[in-house]
Amino acid sequence: MSKTIIISNRLPLQISIENGELEVTPSVGGLATGLKSFHKDGDSVWIGWPGLTEEEIPENLKENVQEKAQAENCVAVHLSSDEIDGFYYGFSNRTIWPLFHYFMEYTESDDQYWRIYQQVNQKYANEILKHYKDGDVIWVHDYQLLLVPNMIREKEPEAVIGFFNHIPFPSYEVFRTLPWRDEVLKGVLGADLIGFHTYDYERHFLSSVSRILRHQVDFNEITLPDRIVKVDSFPMGIDYKKFEQAALNHFESTTADQSELQRRLDHHLEATPDAKMILSIDRLDYTKGIAHRIRAYEYFLDKNPEYIEKVRLVMLAVPSRSNVPQYRRLKREIDELVGRINGKFSTVSWTPIWYFYRSMPFNNLIDLYTTCDIALLTPIRDGMNLVAKEYIATRTNHTGVLILSEMAGAAHEMNEALIINPNNFEQVSEALKTAFEMPEEEQIERNKMLQKRLRRYSVEKWAQDFMKALKGTRENRDSFKSI
Ligand code: ADP
Ligand code: G6P
Repeated sequence: MSKTIIISNRLPLQISIENGELEVTPSVGGLATGLKSFHKDGDSVWIGWPGLTEEEIPENLKENVQEKAQAENCVAVHLSSDEIDGFYYGFSNRTIWPLFHYFMEYTESDDQYWRIYQQVNQKYANEILKHYKDGDVIWVHDYQLLLVPNMIREKEPEAVIGFFNHIPFPSYEVFRTLPWRDEVLKGVLGADLIGFHTYDYERHFLSSVSRILRHQVDFNEITLPDRIVKVDSFPMGIDYKKFEQAALNHFESTTADQSELQRRLDHHLEATPDAKMILSIDRLDYTKGIAHRIRAYEYFLDKNPEYIEKVRLVMLAVPSRSNVPQYRRLKREIDELVGRINGKFSTVSWTPIWYFYRSMPFNNLIDLYTTCDIALLTPIRDGMNLVAKEYIATRTNHTGVLILSEMAGAAHEMNEALIINPNNFEQVSEALKTAFEMPEEEQIERNKMLQKRLRRYSVEKWAQDFMKALKGTRENRDSFKSI
């Protein structure tokens, strides 16, 4: 029977070692949380890295890692610490990630990183080839594996290969600065179908292909000497029912079932019933505009002192990529900013920012989504931003206001949110005021429209649309051959 082979750098499960035992937790990040729902329902095998380097896994536990992965239809690819340094912390997260998010000043061009990136992409491609059988469909994910599609194509010319990029694709003027731009484009073009979250990313990619490789591009099709490659946008959705149901369960649960976090949130709600809670959740990443957000919040409090003691920013930042210097610097910057602002505005009974730097279990995320009146998401650049969608899906009574950066892919589908430019503090501050004062009927009207769209374009639909288009490329290929 044919199957789908999903391949991404990170598996949906993160393995760690606690007191000599393996522990499995869900991975954080849009790719893993989104695709997990597609994987769980379908006939697919998922190949990827389980989160520990080869050296970190004791010999006697290596088999167990594979067993834990297999239990969830996954295959663990083992990477050494040198590979992780050069491939993951190196080329993926010091070259491609900053460049594709327009942080050119953070982008490093290092031959050694590039060499290891190629090696590790080959390792992933070999792992796919081990599992591949005629008739299988291969779906490669994200910027860590840009070379994999062509590496498979070279060995299996007839394979049906899809590629989905979960982060932005930058404009030609930015992309062209990459020393290995030709190789990267050729790598991705091994796929039959290339997907992006938005039409803008798709357009940027097509423009780079036509200007750098000089291939013929007609509308969204690229003509190669032997094949046609299709490019399209597929905005990723969320597992809407899962978030909606979790919120409904949350409201039905008794006080005894409540989490410690919820008890504390409730305690503050009771103590200050007319105060509002603003939520932000992100991986601690410079693309997420966390420092901008805190500064905009300070600007808001400076300009609107009547909101002192009437508002609280609940900020959850999940540790991410802390071996990369910019992430460590950002962590220090945020610690200082939170300290300074809390020092500047706090009163004996009130702290303006509650800051959590950790990962939280799913039920705590639901506590935060359902309790906070406003979500303030201010990325400087973001491929999609699923948190925005998850927040809306949990608002089962339809209240709540989403303030969302226009730089997030999600903003294209969420017009009913308050859309802001994160660099414009005046605008963010005004949006906060609008959110505070927004009548409940208006919140309900906006959220109902958002919910209707999110429910329809769920992650399930996203995967179905992609798969349908991918399988359609097979027919195009046959007709191309017969010309
Ligand atoms: P990115 O993919 O850049 O991290 P997204 O907003 O698209 O950003 O996706 C983040 C995903 O990670 C969401 O699905 C969210 O639910 C999940 N997530 C964020 N914070 C946590 C956390 N503290 N614990 C568990 N999951 C989290
Ligand atoms: C983004 C990327 C994913 C990545 C995730 C978490 O969503 O698109 O590919 O897995 O961030 O980052 P990490 O580096 O921890 O895998």
